[in-house]
Amino acid sequence: MSESPEILILNGPNLNMLGVREPDIYGNETLADIEELCNQRAISLGLTVNFKQSNLEGEIVTDIQSARGVAAGIIINGAGYTHTSVAIFDALKISELPVIELHLSNIHAREAFRHHSYIAKVATGIICGFGAHSYVLAIDAMARLIECAD
Ligand code: DQA
Repeated sequence: MSESPEILILNGPNLNMLGVREPDIYGNETLADIEELCNQRAISLGLTVNFKQSNLEGEIVTDIQSARGVAAGIIINGAGYTHTSVAIFDALKISELPVIELHLSNIHAREAFRHHSYIAKVATGIICGFGAHSYVLAIDAMARLIECAD
C-alpha cells in the first residue's frame, strides 16, 4: 500500500443527478462538488480518495472486488441499491475491508422501504442525514478506523 492510504468512495444509482435531484432532500451540491469536498478533506488527513459513481449494480460489485488489497477502506453511498442488493452485501463482505455506509438524507425518517439496509450488516458504522457533510464525517471516521487498525 502507498504511503498515503487510499479510500474508495462509491456512489450508487442516481447520485450523478445531485444538484437537480430533489434538492429539498439531497441538497444543491453536485456530485462533482462533493468529490472536491472529499479530496480536500482526504488531503488534510494524509489520505487519497478514489471517488466513483455508477448506475449499474454489477459495476459497483466489480469496483468493490478491485479494492481488495488496494484500498484501505470503503465508504459507500449505495443509494437505491442499499435497500435491495445482496450482491453488494456479498462483495463488501468478501473485501474484508472496513466499510462505512453513508447517506445524504436520514433514511430512517423517510419511507419504510428505506429503513432496511443490506450494507448496514457489513458496515462498521453508518452516517446519514447531514447532506454533503455526511461524506466529510465518513472520511474522518474512516481515518480513525484505519489508524486504529495499525
Ligand atoms: C440515499 C438514500 C436512498 O434511500 C436513496 O435511494 C438514494 C440516496 C441518500 O444519500 O440519502 O438514492 O442513499
